[in-house]
Amino acid sequence: MGWNSWNTFGCNINESLIRGMADAIVNSGLRDLGYQYVVVDDCWFNPNRDSSGNIQGDPSRFPSGMKALGDYLHNKGLKFGIYQVPVDKTCAQYFNSYPGATGSQGHEAQDARQFAAWGVDYLKYDWCSPNGTINDQVTTFAKMRDALKATGRPIVYSINPNSIHSKTGPQRNWGDVANMWRTTEDITNKWDTGQTNGYPMGIQNIVNVTVPLASYAGPGHFNDPDMMEIGRGGMNDTEMRSHFALWAMMASPLIAGNDIRSMDSATQTILKNKNLIAINQDSLGLQATQVSNDGTRRVLAKKLANGDVAVALFNQGGSTTTVSTTTSAIGKPGGTVTLTDAWTNATSTTSGTISASVPAHGTVVYRVSGPGSSPSPSASPSASPSASPSVSPSVSPSASPSASPSTSPVPGGCSATIKTINSWGGGFQSEVTVQAGSSAVNGWTVKWTWPSGQSISSLWNGRQSTSGSSVTVTNETYNGSIAAGASTTFGFTANGNAATPTATCTSP
Ligand code: GLA
Repeated sequence: MGWNSWNTFGCNINESLIRGMADAIVNSGLRDLGYQYVVVDDCWFNPNRDSSGNIQGDPSRFPSGMKALGDYLHNKGLKFGIYQVPVDKTCAQYFNSYPGATGSQGHEAQDARQFAAWGVDYLKYDWCSPNGTINDQVTTFAKMRDALKATGRPIVYSINPNSIHSKTGPQRNWGDVANMWRTTEDITNKWDTGQTNGYPMGIQNIVNVTVPLASYAGPGHFNDPDMMEIGRGGMNDTEMRSHFALWAMMASPLIAGNDIRSMDSATQTILKNKNLIAINQDSLGLQATQVSNDGTRRVLAKKLANGDVAVALFNQGGSTTTVSTTTSAIGKPGGTVTLTDAWTNATSTTSGTISASVPAHGTVVYRVSGPGSSPSPSASPSASPSASPSVSPSVSPSASPSASPSTSPVPGGCSATIKTINSWGGGFQSEVTVQAGSSAVNGWTVKWTWPSGQSISSLWNGRQSTSGSSVTVTNETYNGSIAAGASTTFGFTANGNAATPTATCTSP
């Protein structure tokens, strides 16, 4: 969650604007709701690299330098995001609206080190070229992924394969390459531009592309339907609310694109909706899947960590209509459930039909709790930042149906505990805690053996190698060092019945 300069300011940015926006993010309360990342988009750099080839901030736009900007943001409890491209020219340079050719091509490791030295926490890396196959894109984006990793600084990696290029964003799961990847061409502040995936995209058009990609999303890797247009005009209040509700349901990064210094109260009501933020940032990290769509009435459901399900009743048509589904269709069969309306907090109960009268382009969202749910977390903002698209996704410590035994770590050593945090027919998700003993750990390896044919389908915050039923996971660069008595976590999803084998941890 955060804010990005592009939608409102385009190329017209400088350090006082970004600092002022950071102040407004704090003073408006948005930071404390989870909007942490302040992303400086295109046009921040000096058109010339220095004599050693280092990228620099534009001295007239950012006279205090980029490190000072990072320090300013960090002192405000915010995180620093920056924009760059893998080719020679940024999009603005390609279109001749900014001078120079300062892309990272040939400078990947050098730029990554420079960003880390400035305290950058988030890199938006934008293709900006008509050239290259999708495989070239994978290789090229992976080069910067590895360069960022090599810096040892956790940096959220946000890519856009679509700019000035055929739309490869929706053609594969980019979760092996990046933390978030744009699914479409650029967004604009309109409901529907009639585009399928071309410039510019309205809210309805982006939803059409992104809903079918639900299976790609998971903790640490998310579809990105672009920065939000809420508060920028061009849509009515129902459409602005629908935009936010649908982004929340799609587990999308919530990057505001409006001028935070001058938000009206309708905009604040939308961006500050704690119920929708909690649904968006839920620690399972799942994107809503489609339950039904008759062209007008579209129903989406998103499983949540405490057993609740969020359901969206979306009216794509031009007049008010009733949108309906059932408790069994959304995965909550077998009893009475409580529906909490995410906009009004009104509650009702049902044991069958879930429906609402929804205005044109509106989206009603219910949090459905009942049989099988744990006590509902209050829509707590503190739950939000931890599950933001991050290289260190964290999962709910409370959801713990089963955990493997763990032995006390010896001095200098480490222990590991595997905990199942979610399971479904044929698969499950686990969190593994790596705990340092009474002295610090520098590098760790965790091993276990599956009892009955399980296999890992996706793993984050660690590197795995598997041989038959034996699994070995070693640390990433950024989470290899654990202070004495502290711990780190990694996570995975796996196929098969949930299992919690005993894991061993060794540290060299
Ligand atoms: C592309 C991206 C936008 C923005 C501009 C900057 O169009 O998709 O989000 O970063 O480049 O030039």
